[in-house]
Parts: sequence; structure tokens; C-alpha cells
Amino acid sequence: MQSNKIYILDTTLRDGEQVPGCQLNTVEKIQVAQQLEQLGVDIIEAGFPVSSPGDFNSVVEISKSVTWPIICALTRAIEKDITIAAEALKYAKHKRIHTGIGTSDNHIKYKFNSNREEILETAVRAVKYAKTFVEDVEFYAEDAGRTDNEYLARVIEAAIKAGATVVNIPDTNGYCLPQQFGDKIKYLFENVKGIDKVVVSCHCHDDLGMATANTMEAILNGVRQVEVTINGIGERAGNTALEEIAMILKCHPYLDLQTNINTQKIYPTSRMVSSLMNMPVQPNKAIVGRNAFAHSSGIHQDGMLKNKSTYEIIDPNDVGIDDNSIVLTARSGRAALKHRFSSLGIKYENEQLDNIYQKFLQLADKKKEINNDDLMILAGIDRKHNHHIKLEFLQFTSGFGIKPVASIGLNIAGEKFEACATGNGPVDAAINAIKKILSNRQMQMKELTIQSINKGSDDICKVHIQVENEGRLYYGFSANTDVVVATVEAYLDCINKFVSH
Ligand code: KIV
Ligand code: ZN
Repeated sequence: MQSNKIYILDTTLRDGEQVPGCQLNTVEKIQVAQQLEQLGVDIIEAGFPVSSPGDFNSVVEISKSVTWPIICALTRAIEKDITIAAEALKYAKHKRIHTGIGTSDNHIKYKFNSNREEILETAVRAVKYAKTFVEDVEFYAEDAGRTDNEYLARVIEAAIKAGATVVNIPDTNGYCLPQQFGDKIKYLFENVKGIDKVVVSCHCHDDLGMATANTMEAILNGVRQVEVTINGIGERAGNTALEEIAMILKCHPYLDLQTNINTQKIYPTSRMVSSLMNMPVQPNKAIVGRNAFAHSSGIHQDGMLKNKSTYEIIDPNDVGIDDNSIVLTARSGRAALKHRFSSLGIKYENEQLDNIYQKFLQLADKKKEINNDDLMILAGIDRKHNHHIKLEFLQFTSGFGIKPVASIGLNIAGEKFEACATGNGPVDAAINAIKKILSNRQMQMKELTIQSINKGSDDICKVHIQVENEGRLYYGFSANTDVVVATVEAYLDCINKFVSH
């Protein structure tokens, strides 16, 4: 099955969405899935249907809303999971069940309290059961990175014999060294009967910062499907970043390996996922970070002016970065705003466009030049319209030698509530006032991060908050030119996630 095509399985909506704070609602997942289709991914891992009714429903709706990619649903090696996954996939034009089980001695002993033979039998049963629903069955050997190669080869061979069309070798804990992982793949190709008839996949995590290197080694040793996410988001330190693999293969044409990725859609997709998931991209992130194409030292700038190839191996336009993009101001019209949003992967029409345009004008009055980061924030705030608890007003006084005090008005499902409280600063006073209104909640703030985007004192500040409620962590985000308002909005964003549950 070795060819020159590298299949891209995007798991942003499954492994990525598992990350605390990155949860999306069904409408947002459909938006991402449609963007992934335009990006050219071959397989969309849309969710883990048995995990919640919301996940089930999202797989159903994503299946209806995209045409070309295979829609893949994850399961454990459990009949109920597989039955539910098959049901969730019923509208998919191309469907796949992804089932599997932990195969390392560590997982066998501590997770399953079992033994190698039992695990092998369970794996085979799961693949055979999945085959009764769909033709395309992918088998994963969880923690393959730490699984003994000889045993791994036996399990993979048995899964292929049971009907698996794709076999996935995950480095679940991001443990392997690149050469070690490459050797593991090579070993499987040399020792598994029937491996040449199926697609071999890899799924690498970034715990030691080696996910991309391991994925590349796997490709060089015969893997033809890679499991990746946008911006590398995913469980713990994340997964291999889609944009890195796509651009590595593009920048090294002599490898003669191609993907179906339309690389000009990379940047808009990255921005869309970052904005919808409220997950900032680190400025120095390869390919999509704010500084990925910024040349700051004098020597580099001098080289760039002489010839771009001195310090630029990728043309920013190739990943969809429009470096000539004009700065928007209060004088920019609806068409310019619409165009800019669309280059960031966000579509606004008619009434929605009018609404966002009004918000844009309000912001442009406060902050003269509006850049892409500001726009993504505006789009994020716009999505908060449907909140169950809304901020009606907030007033506070603070200063030197006086006790900070805040009064707040909340609209909770149409009913108005007001409270006043003091605190050790205006933020603390406002949060205490909210707590007075919602007196029955056992919530505890776990983290509060305040960041400005650019430099000036007129800048928008971004606030990320984590709140624990009944043992679960919830993540909230907001942005405003007023730091206290932004914090209160982010706090309410968090609370809305559990009150509307
Ligand atoms: O990391 C992992 O092993 C996984 C599997 C479920 C494929 O996410
Ligand atoms: Zn994973």
C-alpha cells in the first residue's frame, strides 16, 4: 500500500477538543469541519460518540455537513462504543470506525489488569465487530511507542487478519526518540504479514517536543497516514501539528511525498481554530506563530532586503498569510471587513455582518488601527451573544487610600439581578459582587491570566480564566480595552459553561 501520497487524518475535533477549555459546540465543530474540508484533509476524526450525547450529535451533524473527507469516529474496543459510533456515522458519505486498545505492558497491567493474550483477543473481536457496520476500520494500538515490538507485531497482524484497513501506531505518551520510532515502524513492515495491504498510520504526541520529528521518521519508514491537529493542539503537550508536516513535505520536494493540503488555507484555519477554541498560538510557533515570518535582527533584515531566500524558506503567501493586508480603521467599510474576516476563515453575511461591523466601529473608535488579532477577538465576543448570564452593567471605584468597590448588574435568563461588593482591587470587588448574586455556586477561581496583544496603553487586553466547579475545570475568555470589564466577562464566560450544561 506504499504510495507517494500521505493521507492526513485531522483529529483537532477529537484529540484537540479533549483539551480543557477547548470544547466547541456543534455549530462551531461544523464550522471547523467545513474549513478542514476546504483545507483538503482526507479524514476528519469528528469525535468519540459514546463519550457524551453532545459528541454523538456533533458526529451526526458533521457527517451531514461535509462531503469529501472520510468521517471517522473513535471507540474503545467495546461493543457498545462501536455500535454507538456506527449509529453516529449513519449520514457520513464516507465513514470509518477507529477502534483499539492499549498494548503496552504498562496499559495491560495497570489500565486493564489483564494479560497480552486477552488484549489481543479483545482487539480482534473489536475489529470484527466494527466490520459488521463499516468496511473501513482503523485499529489503534494505544501506547504502541512503549509496546514491545514483537508483541505489537502480533497484535497488528491479528487486527489486519480481522479486517482492519488502517493500522495506527500511536506514540501516545510522546516517549519515543525519532530513530527509535522509525525503527519500530521498520520492524513492523518487516515482520507483519499483510501489512503491505493496509495503510499504516502514526499518531504522535509532543510530550518531549518530538511529535513532528517522530511523525517524519515514521513517514520515512513507510507510514502513509499521519494523525495531526491544527496548531498541534491535543491531549497534554499536544499532537503533531498538521501545518508542520504539510510544509515539511512541501519544502522537501525531493522526498517525492505529497499531501492533499491546500497550504494557502493553513493560516486561516489556524486562526479559526485558535479563536473558536480560545487557545492562543505561541508567537514563535512554526508556520503559524505571529513571529514565524518576522525578521527582527539587523543582519537578518539586511539579508532579506538583498534576497528573501537568505532567511526565508517558506513564502508566507504559501500558507495564506497576506503580508500586504491593509490595516483596518474606523473609516473601513463593510466590504473590507467582510473580506478580511473571510481571509481569516470566518464568514459574515447580511445581519451578522451588520452586527459585527457595529462592534468593529466601536472598537475602532477606541483603538485606531485594527489588526487580525483584534478581529479574531471581536469574532469570539460576537459568539457570546447566547449566554445564559449576561453582563448588564459594571461600575467600580478604586485608587490609592480608598477601598475598591464594584456594583454589577447581571441578566440571568431574562431576569435582572444587582449586587455591590468590596475587594482588594476592582477585579476582586467585581468578582465578589458576582458571587453574591450566584450565592449557591461552589466555584473557585484556579487561574487568571491577563495579557495585552500589542504594546500601547490603548490596546485590547485578553483575559483567560479557569474556574473549578463541582470538581471540573471550566475555561473562560474575553477581551476588552478595559481590563476589569474583560476579567468580569471572562469569568462570566466560564460560569456560562456550567450553568448552561
Ligand atoms: O494518543 C492516542 O493513543 C490516541 C488514540 C486513541 C489513537 O489518541
Ligand atoms: Zn492521542
